[in-house]
Amino acid sequence: MDRSKLKGLILSGGKGTRMRPLTYTSAKQLIPVANKPVLFFGIEAMVEAGIEEIAIIVSPETGSEIRSAAGDGSQFGAKITYIDQDQPRGLAHAVLIAEPVIGDCPFVMYLGDNLLQHGIKPLVDEFKQLDCNCEILLTRVSNPSQFGVAELDSEGRVHRLTEKPKEPKSDLALVGVYMFDKNIFRAVREIKPSWRNELEITDAIQWLVDQKLTVHPHVVKGWWKDTGKIEDMLEANRTVLDTFERDLRGETDTTSSVEGKVVVEEGARIIDSVIRGPVIIGANARIEQAFIGPYTSVGSNCVISHAEIENSIVLENSAISHVEGRIEASLIGRNVKIGRTKRKPVAYRFNLGDNSEVGIL
Ligand code: G1P
Repeated sequence: MDRSKLKGLILSGGKGTRMRPLTYTSAKQLIPVANKPVLFFGIEAMVEAGIEEIAIIVSPETGSEIRSAAGDGSQFGAKITYIDQDQPRGLAHAVLIAEPVIGDCPFVMYLGDNLLQHGIKPLVDEFKQLDCNCEILLTRVSNPSQFGVAELDSEGRVHRLTEKPKEPKSDLALVGVYMFDKNIFRAVREIKPSWRNELEITDAIQWLVDQKLTVHPHVVKGWWKDTGKIEDMLEANRTVLDTFERDLRGETDTTSSVEGKVVVEEGARIIDSVIRGPVIIGANARIEQAFIGPYTSVGSNCVISHAEIENSIVLENSAISHVEGRIEASLIGRNVKIGRTKRKPVAYRFNLGDNSEVGIL
């Protein structure tokens, strides 16, 4: 089989229930890390690995939002097409419906809520060189029962794969990036739905193992996936911000101090403030008499004035002003307003969506 060109398949469906409340109004794959939607990291990783043709699986709930964000792929130097999956019927079902687009071509499948710090180029190159039918990525985790889990034999070959085992036999979780040749299409037709009524990719890969087809395991580091906790998002944000170089494209006045690895995007203004990197300030944001501390991403068009914030993510168009005490370890959505009012009685006033969380002094 010609392995010089691979295609890409990105899964970007699902309801994102674990990332509420943000996912009530937006696809989880479009939640930004360091001001870039998680999904874009996957697309860029594919392009960097030489993949030009990418199909994205989308759901009825968020398909149009994903389509308008990623477009035809020209912004990434790729050609993107979309495949509708009517319901979350499992990752192996997504492979099944992608067959007409993928054809005989070997391909990389990438789950749109995963993020690999070092991209996928070395892995794709390895798969091209090895004469295997499938390559899976594994990583050691402390909570294996939340993932697909691999057991390797004494020679490091894949022995068994189990989806979300209650009593995991190893701490090696399946990372959401897989490389396949056309045999996977046979596998996804053979397997039966799991207890959660989904066609599991884990079972399809087990089928390959049972057929004595070769499944090459590769243990990686620097992998991240949201498991629904704010802390996961903040960790991903910290990891990505750490890779940034200082780049000041917006305006900074002379009374401000911008320290360390700070990115200030076009049109942003820093007025009488202290920015201590790693930090990114999005386009057209205004930071005034404020402190933006390490590991903070401020989205475009945000206003932060008379406030202090660190180790946090603020999405586009939000405003934070006149807050006493520092905001820390927070994830703040789009169009949010946090501020002081003069209304009586003097009181906290909240207008929060379902599943919001507020911690006060
Ligand atoms: C899916 C896979 C699981 C894998 C995980 C990685 O889980 O079923 O095997 O470890 O992605 O992101 P899910 O996203 O359905 O929880």
